[in-house]
Amino acid sequence: MSGIERLAERVGQYDSEGLLSITLAIPDHLRDALWRIESARLRPLEVSAAMVCGMGGSAIGGDLAAAAIGDRLTKPLLTVRGYELPSWSPPATAVLCSSYSGNTEETLACYAAAEAVGAQRVVATTGGELAEAARRDGVPVIGLPAGMPPRAAVAYMFCAAAELAALGDAAPRIHTEIDAAAEHLQRRADDLGAKAIDLAEQIGDAVPVIYGADLTTPVAYRWKTQVNENGKLPAFSSPLPEATHNEIAGWEGAQGRFACVLLEDSDQHPRERRRSEITGELIERHASAVIRVEAEAETRAARILELVMLGDLLSLALAAQAGTDPAPIEAIDGVKARLGDPS
Ligand code: F6R
Repeated sequence: MSGIERLAERVGQYDSEGLLSITLAIPDHLRDALWRIESARLRPLEVSAAMVCGMGGSAIGGDLAAAAIGDRLTKPLLTVRGYELPSWSPPATAVLCSSYSGNTEETLACYAAAEAVGAQRVVATTGGELAEAARRDGVPVIGLPAGMPPRAAVAYMFCAAAELAALGDAAPRIHTEIDAAAEHLQRRADDLGAKAIDLAEQIGDAVPVIYGADLTTPVAYRWKTQVNENGKLPAFSSPLPEATHNEIAGWEGAQGRFACVLLEDSDQHPRERRRSEITGELIERHASAVIRVEAEAETRAARILELVMLGDLLSLALAAQAGTDPAPIEAIDGVKARLGDPS
């Protein structure tokens, strides 16, 4: 049986909204995103900084795009999670307001705040109030396909954020890299399915603590949030080298309740690599497992996207292991309902 078939067998009975097939369609999402971006006919923006405003699944694309671009970035590219832009935001800022539903109150507040500072706005959404406001204000919209949980639209948000950087002349356009990444992911899907099952078995019922460094830092956070949302399980992430200056001490009291996942990278700083290895060695006797993971792809974008897809599949495998439907997120909906947020 192939990796995907084995994963489908485990996930199938719980997967009420077909999250496994949506996740496996990430390569198609990437190609479709590039097409939608081209169709939006966005104009270059004369700016000194770029910001991606969004929350949760609609924000992570900003962090992932900045990591994929890496040191090709020539101007700040920030992800803003909250109600306000930084106090120092210059008027010459490119702001991408990214909200899958188009109704997230924090993102709507940033949309208004961006107008107030005179920023140049772009919107990525399926509709909602954000699309309405953009239409009213003549702000260009990258239209996204409806019908999936916002967190599953990560490929679209990644591409939109990378495009913002290119439009603002903060980075070269990485369309070719993204296209090649889509092909790579398609080829690797079966291996990633098998790997996800293996990782889920190694983690078992321990709480995963996921470490990233540089390029893999936002990926570690994505893994954490996907385990939280799809698995309805606790998970934590932390960046290296910082964690070797504090968090590592806490493992002494871990008593085998946590599994350590180290997301490494073929091109990482040699001292970061060494810190990751040492972390694994020192934690070993306190953790239920120490798992080291590295992408196989060549380019930064492809390595990031490969790890994102693997983490998404892992979260589904963990959900199945826990007998949980990955789709509903009652806790998140509950907070929004209590706040009267329609998204
Ligand atoms: C839901 C999810 C959440 C949302 C967040 C913002 O699948 O992942 O993190 O992304 O609540 O909502 P949107 O994306 O609609 O702006």
